[in-house]
Amino acid sequence: MCGIVAAVAERNIVPVLIEGLKKLEYRGYDSAGVALLNPTLTRLRSVGRVAELAAQAEGQVAHHGIAHTRWATHGVPSQRNAHPHVSGGLAVVHNGIIENYAELKAELQAAGYAFSSDTDTEVVAHLISETLKTVPELFAAVQAVAKRLIGAYAIAVIREWDDCIVVTRHGAPLLLGLGEDGNYAASDASALIQVTRRMVYLEEGDVAELKRGTVRIVGADGTAAERTVHESTLSADAVELGDYAHYMQKEIFEQPQALAATLEMIGGAQSLTPNLFGVAAPEMLKDVKSVLILACGTSCHAGMVARYWIEQLAGIPCTVEIASEYRYRVSVPNPEQLVVAISQSGETADTLASVKHAKSLGMGRTLALCNVPESAIVRECALRFLTRAGPEIGVASTKAFTTQLAALFLLAATLAKQAGRLSADEEAKHLVSLRHLPVAVQKVLALEPAIKAWAGRFADKQHALFLGRGLHYPIALEGALKLKEISYIHAEGYPAGELKHGPLALVDKNMPVVSVAPNDFLLEKLKSNLKEVAARGGELYVFADADSAVDEEPGLHVLRLPEHYGLLSPVLHVVPLQLLSYHVALVKGTDVDKPRNLAKSVTVE
Ligand code: G6P
Repeated sequence: MCGIVAAVAERNIVPVLIEGLKKLEYRGYDSAGVALLNPTLTRLRSVGRVAELAAQAEGQVAHHGIAHTRWATHGVPSQRNAHPHVSGGLAVVHNGIIENYAELKAELQAAGYAFSSDTDTEVVAHLISETLKTVPELFAAVQAVAKRLIGAYAIAVIREWDDCIVVTRHGAPLLLGLGEDGNYAASDASALIQVTRRMVYLEEGDVAELKRGTVRIVGADGTAAERTVHESTLSADAVELGDYAHYMQKEIFEQPQALAATLEMIGGAQSLTPNLFGVAAPEMLKDVKSVLILACGTSCHAGMVARYWIEQLAGIPCTVEIASEYRYRVSVPNPEQLVVAISQSGETADTLASVKHAKSLGMGRTLALCNVPESAIVRECALRFLTRAGPEIGVASTKAFTTQLAALFLLAATLAKQAGRLSADEEAKHLVSLRHLPVAVQKVLALEPAIKAWAGRFADKQHALFLGRGLHYPIALEGALKLKEISYIHAEGYPAGELKHGPLALVDKNMPVVSVAPNDFLLEKLKSNLKEVAARGGELYVFADADSAVDEEPGLHVLRLPEHYGLLSPVLHVVPLQLLSYHVALVKGTDVDKPRNLAKSVTVE
């Protein structure tokens, strides 16, 4: 989703802005632009990759500027819609959606402003210009304009002959970077670690003024605000591609380390403790009678797996809701319920809004399960568990998912312990299984050559079906999501038992059917479902366990995972599905890390 970088410094900030945009590329975008002050305004914009903008900016020198990657919402991806948008001598970049833009646009058109784009952002630029007629200071004008905007936004503004950058945020992320030789702002820390590790996370409604030597922040209430300075621990290497061809490939292969880092805190532990989820957890996780999980996309699939674990281990009812549905539906609130928000980025607008909605209904026991410390969702929740997958750049989520699963298993086992349903023996066994996960995943990765050989058979297909049962039904959903996201093959995940109630009608030799077939109590049932596919001429690709009694036959291809992993088996079984979609996408030649139309951090609803 849109990314912002802003800089005012002693050094030439053009390379900083370009490098920052490159670091934000993973968020997803379709055009890019930059506005520089020298001290008059120079604006450069391009459709496509940041590399094209970098070529245009070659040789430019400036000490003051704003830059942007745009993911189209209002108006098609095009040069005229790319940010920055200008009005008179000022330039604006914006992330988010201004919901009342049509009404503001009509007002500004009536006042004589001509619009040269279809964006909601241009409204902000003209509105600031108009406000400056009566409120001449840029900072005060932005404050006044922010009060008139409805929606979610992060905004950065510069004006010719001015020595500052003014930024504000409401519902979209923006942080400041405090450097030695200047000050910076960006949508996330990865864009700024090139210049500083000292970060300030702006709060809702904050307006900040950045000059070379000073930063001033005023809160939503209009009074001067002190915000904590955080030292970012983000590693610069974590976002480098290294020897890999794509971030997705890198992230699939990083899963053993990501799991090991996430599970480090139980490394030497003999027992589970609720403190893993924060200081208030012993009190808040006590007597939990039901759990509500809120998430979007892949994170929601992790929640669906957790539902099986929580109900089976802890005996506590658990529901999983897609955040964008929950936030707008009339539901029956339960103030005692534990609300778990799962999010890789911690920024997803719908997930964040769904937590706020739950809180507004009196549900205060909130837990964020997140990969980004200090993200909006983490800050919104009373408890937190941080997965330590490291930055995930590929739009298709991989290592975030498996680390979420590990964390959710810890939660389920902890709730089981709190509920008095976990014997010391079982607890010890779960801890051993969790600690062995990185090695187990490493072994699954060794299946890559065999999976690659299968991928060629999918590349010319229009549709694919993914089947699973029980714990592995959400894994089938996740496998289908991965394939559609990056290879653009229409894929659906289905609980295998439901096949005969509809999707069986689609099965023929042209539709590959992928099945997750671990050696669990549902295997025999699943095999009957596979027979139904085979009887209709469907081509089956089965991911079984070493000891699953499923044999190759014509039309039935089997790959075996090295070991059977019991309740934690979904963590292993998703890995070959990630690899399958990756290799199918490679054969098809799609843009693996930045699939068309999708974004990594979805900061708009
Ligand atoms: C986008 C990403 C997905 C992700 C989803 C939820 O759609 O492309 O990979 O699963 O958002 O994101 P979150 O950061 O909340 O987990």
